[in-house]
Order: sequence, then C-alpha cells, then structure tokens
Amino acid sequence: MTKDWCAEEPPHPFSPSAPLALDLNALGPAQALDRRALGGFWSESQWQQELGRQGSLCFGQWQGQELLSLASGWLVVGELQLTLVAVDPSWRRRGLGRQVLTTLLQEAQRQGCGQASLEVAESNGAAQGLYGGLGFSTVGIRRRYYRNGDAALIQWLELKHVEEVRIPAPSFH
Ligand SMILES: CC(C)(COP(=O)(O)OP(=O)(O)OC[C@H]1O[C@@H](n2cnc3c(N)ncnc32)[C@H](O)[C@@H]1OP(=O)(O)O)[C@@H](O)C(=O)NCCC(=O)NCCS
Repeated sequence: MTKDWCAEEPPHPFSPSAPLALDLNALGPAQALDRRALGGFWSESQWQQELGRQGSLCFGQWQGQELLSLASGWLVVGELQLTLVAVDPSWRRRGLGRQVLTTLLQEAQRQGCGQASLEVAESNGAAQGLYGGLGFSTVGIRRRYYRNGDAALIQWLELKHVEEVRIPAPSFH
C-alpha cells in the first residue's frame, strides 16, 4: 500500500522539507541546483525572470540552505507550461521529483489551470518516466529540436487527473 505524503509521521532528521513556493530569495540556491543537476541550463538573468516573473510558479524542497529539487512553470491562459524540473543528482530516485512536480501541478490547478504542457527530449528516459507516471501523454513531436539534434516530445496532461494522485512519501536511506 502506498503511504500518503500527508501521513502523520515524524520527519526523518535528514529529510528534505515538503515542497515550498520559491521566489527571488531562492536565486542563488536555484542556480546552484541548476549547475549540479543540469550543468547550468539557465543564466542568472533567466533565473531572475523565472523566479520573479508575474505568472510563474516555482516549488522546491530544501535541506537547510541547500535546494534539492525544483519544479517550475508559467501560467498562460488556463494552462501550466512546465519549464523545468530538476533534482540534485545525489537525491534522485527517492521520489523528490514526483513530489515537487505534483505540488506544482496541484497548485496550478488550484489557481485555475485546466491543463499542463511540456517538452521533453526523446532521449531523456528519466524525465519521461516521471511525466508518464503522473499521466502526461505525448501529443506531438518536434524533430531535431535540441542543439544536439534530439527530438522534443510535446506532452500534455488534463489537470483534473492530478487531484487523484496520491504522493508517496519520498524514501531516505
Ligand atoms: C528527471 C528527474 C527530475 C527525476 O527526478 P527523481 O527525483 O529522480 O524522480 P523520482 O524519484 O520522483 O521518480 C519518479 C519516477 O520517474 C521515473 N524515473 C526517475 N528516474 C528515472 C530513471 N533514471 N530512469 C527511468 N525512470 C526514471 C520512474 O518512473 C520513477 O518512479 P519509480 O521510482 O517509482 O520507478 C531527475 O532525473 C533530474 O533532475 N534529471 C536532470 C534534469 C532533467 O532532465 N529534467 C527534466 C527536463 S527539464
């Protein structure tokens, strides 16, 4: 049986925080996570936009001052356009990605979004596993979309399905 994330259990002393909304105060830690997880996908000014822009929504999980996970997107006319999900390499496969992304999707729905969309590289099996597990399905493909020649899959989710997602508690060893 899966455990509900909201189950009343004392947190493990080294557990990351529950997902919290991020703003410009998280600029340094978000950039540091971006470097560790994605080799520096966005510049400082792009991160400033992402965290400070009206209509952008961003959640992350902390351990002390360090950001371990992040999921971010833009609210555009009733749709959440997912821009980035990242988990610290040493914290992967413990449920953080699923937890932080589900929180973002649920908050987008709470704020009136009906759908979420994203683009994911055809070769990114980890991200596709994460998105597929939450109910995203592929609705299109952009060939040779990325600089390395990789295609982008366009994926879509009706957010009403996210209400039903029970978030399993992350596992810590
Ligand atoms: C994609 C990413 C965010 C997943 O984070 P994570 O915390 O490891 O994911 P979770 O532990 O929550 O896993 C959720 C599900 O995703 C899938 N998944 C995650 N990592 C996977 C991998 N390496 N291979 C295959 N499936 C994977 C699985 O279905 C998994 O469920 P399971 O553990 O019950 O099998 C992480 O690998 C990452 O930061 N990658 C680099 C950044 C990136 O590519 N982001 C996406 C594009 S912006």
